[in-house]
Amino acid sequence: MHSNLHLCHDFSLRSLNTFGIDARAATYLRVAAADQLQAALAEPALAAQPRLVLGGGSNLLLTGDFPGLVLHIAIQGREVLQGTATHHHVRAAAGENWHQFVQWTLSHGLDGLENLSLIPGTVGAAPIQNIGAYGAETKDYFHSLTAYDPASGQLVVMDVADCRFGYRDSVFKQEAGRGLIVVDVTFALPRAWQPNLRYAELAQAVAAQGLDAPSAQQVADTVIAVRRRKLPDPADIGNAGSFFKNPVVSGAQCAQLLAQFPALVHHQQADGSEKLAAGWLIDQCGWKGRSLGAAGVYEKQALVLVNRGGATGAEVQRLAQAIQDDVQARYGVLLEPEPVFV
Ligand code: EPU
Repeated sequence: MHSNLHLCHDFSLRSLNTFGIDARAATYLRVAAADQLQAALAEPALAAQPRLVLGGGSNLLLTGDFPGLVLHIAIQGREVLQGTATHHHVRAAAGENWHQFVQWTLSHGLDGLENLSLIPGTVGAAPIQNIGAYGAETKDYFHSLTAYDPASGQLVVMDVADCRFGYRDSVFKQEAGRGLIVVDVTFALPRAWQPNLRYAELAQAVAAQGLDAPSAQQVADTVIAVRRRKLPDPADIGNAGSFFKNPVVSGAQCAQLLAQFPALVHHQQADGSEKLAAGWLIDQCGWKGRSLGAAGVYEKQALVLVNRGGATGAEVQRLAQAIQDDVQARYGVLLEPEPVFV
């Protein structure tokens, strides 16, 4: 066994997932440098095990103990690169905390990521989910990333096209990219910065402070305040942010639903399809604030499922299923979970 590898066995993952589910990993390795990935996966006994790559554990539902190898990506580091005439380039290692990274860029006068403040998780997870909030997505500020490919044992560099970003989606969630392990991410931030206030709720919150020309830090502070009002802090109550994606339906299906439910919340997409507000659908089905066992629906935002204390992954799954069944029966729409079930 490689001498640099400190493997743990029967290791509790409770503090490593924001839902606070007390599941255990058969084998656990904290990865502090990219070459440890290579060393670990060169061991046939480790390479053969089922594998879970863990970042901040904020988009994950552990439905039971994990029978294989958990690779906890804890690689640290961030640097400002040369950049171009139009963009600053900044790189961060996959294990950096996302929110701290965003605040660090702002404190260096590198604006652009402010709308994505306070999203839980790590830098390495940002492109996997194409994390987004308040009218911005990772892909808008993404330059490239480095990933370790266990199949070849090589590091690969991937640009925006390689990553196939979609709404809360990327190649890393698809067959072609599933095995890749993100090591670092480079962002391209525009030198000619403008606040992005396309999201109505954010624009209102900025205007309410009398800010005509807000700085990026002021936008960040506003996003932080809005999020704190609506979303539970995982340090206080276990959760994984939005539990379901906002479903996208055809224009025709949306029109039919609107005829029956005039208050339906919907946003037209560039291709004519319509994104529905899953939180509204769940709320209308009466689930807000309710619980099944120790798993519950957050009082202030029906899209967020919470661990009210000691919930198992199976309990959260049962609640999610009950919600899906009700929304399907009433609206004929299938809600797709946002977190990965393991
Ligand atoms: N709504 C209700 N009842 C609720 C919740 C929402 O009626 O209990 C209605 C709201 O009134 C609003 C609409 O549904 O009209 C949309 O709600 P909101 O603006 O809060 O945003 P969201 O669609 O629920 C999405 C993202 C969030 C992101 C916010 C802000 C998804 C799945 N969720 O939420 O992302 O922070 O917009 O941009 O796309 C995450 O992905 O984990 C996440 C938190």
